This record gives sequence, structure tokens and C-alpha cells, in this order.
Amino acid sequence: MKAFVVDRYNKKGALRLVEMPEPVLQDNDVLVEIHAAGVNLLDSKIRGGEFKPILPYRPPFILGHDVAGTVVSAGSKVRKFKPGDDVYARPRDGRIGTFAEFIAVNEADAALKPENLSMEEAASIPLVGLTAWQALIERASLKKGQKVFIQAGSGGVGTFGIQLAKHLGATVATTTSAASADLVKSLGADVVVDYREDDFEKILSGYDVVLNSQDAKTLEKSLTVLKPGGKLISISGPPDPEFAKEKGLNLVLRLVLRLLSRGIRTRAKRRGVRFSFLFMRAQGDQLSKITSLIESGAIRPVLDRVFPFEATNEALAYVETGRAKGKVVIKVR
Ligand SMILES: NC(=O)c1ccc[n+]([C@@H]2O[C@H](COP(=O)([O-])OP(=O)(O)OC[C@H]3O[C@@H](n4cnc5c(N)ncnc54)[C@H](OP(=O)(O)O)[C@@H]3O)[C@@H](O)[C@H]2O)c1
Repeated sequence: MKAFVVDRYNKKGALRLVEMPEPVLQDNDVLVEIHAAGVNLLDSKIRGGEFKPILPYRPPFILGHDVAGTVVSAGSKVRKFKPGDDVYARPRDGRIGTFAEFIAVNEADAALKPENLSMEEAASIPLVGLTAWQALIERASLKKGQKVFIQAGSGGVGTFGIQLAKHLGATVATTTSAASADLVKSLGADVVVDYREDDFEKILSGYDVVLNSQDAKTLEKSLTVLKPGGKLISISGPPDPEFAKEKGLNLVLRLVLRLLSRGIRTRAKRRGVRFSFLFMRAQGDQLSKITSLIESGAIRPVLDRVFPFEATNEALAYVETGRAKGKVVIKVR
């Protein structure tokens, strides 16, 4: 099969299109013929080696974290799916590789694709949808009537997160540049701050939850937006000791992460708010619930651009500009 691989860790290096053997199925796997693959900044960070200590993929390996496609065969223990089913997934860490014609996915990581979405639309959902779900529902227990600040509302996580938070009945504030103000309002954002003109920390206060996806300065300012008892959930770092424990990292790494996050944890504590780092995980059951929300019309995909398979490097470069409005997807077939 054709696949785009990382030959060696390199921030600017192109992925190489090569012939790879078709994946071998384990008992709990489905073999998915890939129709479309979503592109994420995580792909770029992994290619650049940023995640090597935590996710040590050995080159050459196939990149790509989001898939939509059709099940062509199933392992002996698979119960949820059969050949012919259209599915989508964020395959678990260690078993990524959606920039290819086929992938073997553990059935626990997959869900039936929403019937009202095209393959390209479906491939845009899993990683960002699960991130928003795990941040807002699992971690924050966001409730009706609460106030949440979701940064970068026009990005992949933001476009999904705003809609999920509105569905939960929360009041949503977000940041974006003026060109995307109408987009985020159409998704349900109640308060829109143009981050190029205004300082959100001077406008927002008394929030229950902040979903931070930007740099360290933004993380710091986010503390002041929260009310006492509020939750600051960061998906852009710094990783905290709980994350190190979850991932079973060695003592040295645990110590490093403890030190990296000490400042923000201390300042959060002083203000009476709770800081935590979230690294999303594969989760097919949550994805099934997301399928229902999409089929009910509560959440819609927001696609910026679809690239042909041959242009996978261009798709990744476009995501790396940080200017995408919604998601970028590769059409594989
Ligand atoms: N930990 C996890 O599990 C996890 C999961 C998913 C994502 N992430 C991380 O979260 C971050 C966001 O991911 P994403 O996929 O949503 O990114 P994305 O789709 O690439 O975000 C692009 C959007 O961000 C907006 N933006 C850029 N700078 C901004 C700023 N300073 N304030 C507000 N908006 C800004 C841009 O709007 P303008 O063009 O208008 O500036 C653009 O629409 C990334 O660092 C990603 O790696 C982590």
C-alpha cells in the first residue's frame, strides 16, 4: 500500500511517499480501507521529534491520527463492526498511521461514522472531538449555566469545543481574529474577543472553565479569568505530574514534567483554581456519542481545506501556518 512516512525526525523534513506492507490484523482489530485522513498539529510535532520522549515512534513510521473509511476485514474477536461498515477513529498512541491506504485499528478506538457526513467531514472529527469531550465533559464536568472560555474558537479544537459547550448549555467565550468572528458566532459563541485588538484577561472574568490551547503567556493570563474553584485545562502544555503517571514515564521524565509545570501549578493554587494538563486519548465509546450528537444536528464539522493524498506534505504545511479555519483533511480515495 502507499503511505506517507517519517524517515527521520526533522522539523522541516518532508514525509516520503513509499510502498509499505499492508497492516497485520490483531484479534481485536478491524482493517480499514482509508477514504480520508484528518491532519493535526500533533502530526507536525511528532515529525519534529517534540514528542519523542513520550511517544517514541521508530522511523520509518507512517504518520496520521484521524481516519474515516470502510472496514474490509475483522479480527476473530471483533464484535462491534463487520466488513462494509463505514467507521471513523483516532487510533491509539503507538498505532497511528492514517496517511496511508489501509490501517489496522483496535475496535475499541473506532465508531460508526455519522451517516450525515461525507468521509472527508468524518475524518475531521475524532482527535479534536475527543479532545473537547475529554476536556469539557470528563475533566471539567461542564454544566448548564456555567461559563467556559475556549481559546482559538476558529481552530480545530475550538470549532468543535464551542458547539459541544453550547450543547451542554454553557455560556461560551472565545478568542479569534476579526476574519473569523462570524464563523465562531455561527457555532454559538456568546462572547467573541479579537485577540489581535483586545486583551481577553481585561474583558472576561468569573469563568468556571478555561480550555487553554495557546502559549505560556496566554496560560498565565487565563488564571485571572477564572473564579475561585474554577478549572484551567491546558492542551498545549506544560504536562503535569498526573500526566507523567498516567503515561508511566520514567523517574527522570516525571521529575522534568514536575518542574516544567511547577510555576503554573503553584500560581493556580494561590488563586484557588485547579490547573491540569490534558493529552487526549483514543476512545471509541465517546466517539459513538459524538456520532449521535452529529447525527442529531447539535454539532457540525467545519472544514477549511481538503487536499489530495499526493499533497499530504502541503496539507501538513498548511496546518503548520496556524491559520486554518476549522479542519484540514486529506482525501485518500
Ligand atoms: N493535548 C491534546 O490532547 C491536544 C489535542 C488537540 C490539540 N492540541 C493542541 O492544541 C492547540 C490547538 O490545536 P488546534 O488543532 O485547534 O489548532 P489549529 O486548528 O491549527 O488552530 C488554528 C486556529 O488558531 C487560531 N489562533 C492562532 N493564534 C491564536 C491566538 N493567539 N488566539 C486565538 N486564536 C488563535 C487561528 O485563528 P486566526 O487565523 O484568526 O489567528 C486559527 O483559526 C495546538 O497546539 C495543538 O497541538 C492538543
